Amino acid sequence: MAARPLSEAILNYMVSWTKMDWPPDWEKVFGRPGPLVVEIGFGTGEFLVDRALVHPEMNFVGIERSWVSVQRLFKRLERSQPENVRVVHGGADFVLEHLISAESVSHFYINFPDPWPKERHHGRRLIQPAFVQALSERLAPGGTVTVATDHQGYASWISEILEAQPFLRSGFQSPSVLRLRGRKPTKYERKALDAGVPVRYFVWRREAGGVLAKTVEKVGPMPNMLLKGKYDRARLPADFEACSWRTDHRGVTVVIKLPAVYTDRNGDCLVEAMVREGSFSQHFGVLVLARPGDRVLIKLSPIGQPRPTWGVKQAVGRVGEMVLALCSGLSVVESAVGR
Ligand SMILES: C[S@@+](CC[C@H](N)C(=O)[O-])C[C@H]1O[C@@H](n2cnc3c(N)ncnc32)[C@H](O)[C@@H]1O
Repeated sequence: MAARPLSEAILNYMVSWTKMDWPPDWEKVFGRPGPLVVEIGFGTGEFLVDRALVHPEMNFVGIERSWVSVQRLFKRLERSQPENVRVVHGGADFVLEHLISAESVSHFYINFPDPWPKERHHGRRLIQPAFVQALSERLAPGGTVTVATDHQGYASWISEILEAQPFLRSGFQSPSVLRLRGRKPTKYERKALDAGVPVRYFVWRREAGGVLAKTVEKVGPMPNMLLKGKYDRARLPADFEACSWRTDHRGVTVVIKLPAVYTDRNGDCLVEAMVREGSFSQHFGVLVLARPGDRVLIKLSPIGQPRPTWGVKQAVGRVGEMVLALCSGLSVVESAVGR
């Protein structure tokens, strides 16, 4: 069969998670039931695709923050075309917390996470107590997490963190082993084995207990504002000043930045916006559009595909306030940006 173009691979395999309820119903995403297997930081994707082909009865989600790696996986998926793989482009902490529900995962794989060897960088390591707790809460009872590393310092660190988790037990007599049968080595694994560097494999099983409440965060309506009155299209681009705010919402730090404004040839404006809510960052545009009947519509641009979170609504509201401050003849007709 001829390889499909990349765009089609994106349509088939990429999960548009910003547009879905959190966590998504993975059986709906795959279009069938099946044990859920998650690989975090899949790199070239070789291991993920191999597992998916060996286990067609299981549903595989790959999480990776590097877009280059995601594209590499798409190429691989185009070639082998498994139906049981989906790709989430994002950071593991956030994705785990919001997109994977409690007790839903049969296996997690974390192969050769970046070791960050310098002591001052240890805070950047993926394997941290809170992260492993989140893994443990999302494993179904009896489910396993496999971690592999060739960095002996990181192996000791991982060992300590796993041993401190009350609901995880090693599948072996020791915290890790030096050989694991039936694995197709990953790129980093091959490098280590070829160089004679010992690899430590941790396979830890989730025991019963420590259940996390299941919650769903629905996608809200798109925020917009409708203004009425005399609008001078030239004012916003002429008098715009980059601005930013930091605030707290439900215990989460929210940072909103409006760094620039762009104008098209009709004089309609797009205000660039960046919103960070905890570990979730979005970069998008807010449109300011003159409409017939002395109306001005302020709404989200599809650029950046923003999820309408609280912070995004605030950004739209701030743009509205900016326009109202610059054009005193305008007033609000409708607003769906919340408080
Ligand atoms: C050292 S590479 C290992 C790649 C592959 N697993 C292997 O064994 O060949 C680490 C991978 O984890 C990804 N990664 C690192 N931190 C991540 C995070 N917080 N969320 C998702 N992926 C992450 C990196 O982009 C990179 O692809």
